[in-house]
Amino acid sequence: MACFDPHGRKIEYVRLSVTDKCNLRCFYCMPEHFRDFTPSSEYLSYDELIRIISAFAELGIFRVRLTGGEPLVRKDLAGFAKQLSAIPGIEDLSLSTNCVLMDRHAEDLFEAGVNRLNVSLDTLREDRFRFITRRGGNLELVLNGLKKAKQVGFSPIKLNMLVMRGINDDEVIDIANYCLENAFSLRFIETMPIGASGQKATDHYINLREVRDRLDAHFNLVPSIMRGGGPARYVRVEGTNVHFGFITPLSQHFCSSCNRLRLTAEGTLHLCLGNTQNFELKPHIRQGISDDGLKGLLYEALALKPLQHNFLDNPSEVNRSMSVTGG
Ligand code: 5AD
Ligand code: SF4
Repeated sequence: MACFDPHGRKIEYVRLSVTDKCNLRCFYCMPEHFRDFTPSSEYLSYDELIRIISAFAELGIFRVRLTGGEPLVRKDLAGFAKQLSAIPGIEDLSLSTNCVLMDRHAEDLFEAGVNRLNVSLDTLREDRFRFITRRGGNLELVLNGLKKAKQVGFSPIKLNMLVMRGINDDEVIDIANYCLENAFSLRFIETMPIGASGQKATDHYINLREVRDRLDAHFNLVPSIMRGGGPARYVRVEGTNVHFGFITPLSQHFCSSCNRLRLTAEGTLHLCLGNTQNFELKPHIRQGISDDGLKGLLYEALALKPLQHNFLDNPSEVNRSMSVTGG
């Protein structure tokens, strides 16, 4: 069974934000003294989330990615991951994390069936890490977490680097070399005007074409594709299995191949990262909707999925923070 939206796109993938809280405060994601997190009492329970994902699986969704905020700050994520892996039809379970807490959770998560890992890492320099994330002393935890994740067997491990002019754009080659040493893949991301913080970040916008040119000058790159690679366009470093990906929501948007939905911890379905259309599932879940009723609602929500984002025409449309949907 396959699931299509009104624009004929096959929807196969749910990004599930299990919490909007985070142990970092990246300046492009949230304000420094941000306190307006959703109270945990408003979150759907793991059992309620399992019900929704099971209904999605019956509709033909077969991939789930756990995101946040920082997903590892929610209690017993590994236990939840194990429940998700057991849902018939869910074939691929992945995780996006900042890796600060990975060292202590890597084994349990891997055993729970999480196979692929995306890690946000914008810099390898402690002073910059502190500036970007507004939290000191954590870069070492991140790097140790990555080491542990590799040991445990996650594959592939992809790093996500938000490239910002004057902030970290001079580290593109250093981070690429770090990835080559560790057999990680690396994706470069353009800043997106999501929320007030994201709009500030776009002051440092850099077109990834420029990054690509710098990489070309250092590495022998050949065209490639990556399974489950999402909206990135990939090249591979010749003679290796290391991929570089380019996620260019602004300079070359990829909405025509969008295959995903986003579900927040509170049970709000966001139909598009760059639009405001959403659908609240919590009231229905709490009012004891039947399984068939729930599937009907998911179809209703899907019908709202817009054709594309509005970042260029209306850059201030989206005023939620990235930590609500987890990218
Ligand atoms: N623009 C682009 N990417 C962002 N992220 C957070 N805020 C933004 C933004 N304004 C990305 C981070 C991280 C993921 C959680 O979301 O790079 O990898
Ligand atoms: Fe946390 Fe990721 Fe937002 Fe940074 S970008 S504050 S790591 S959710």
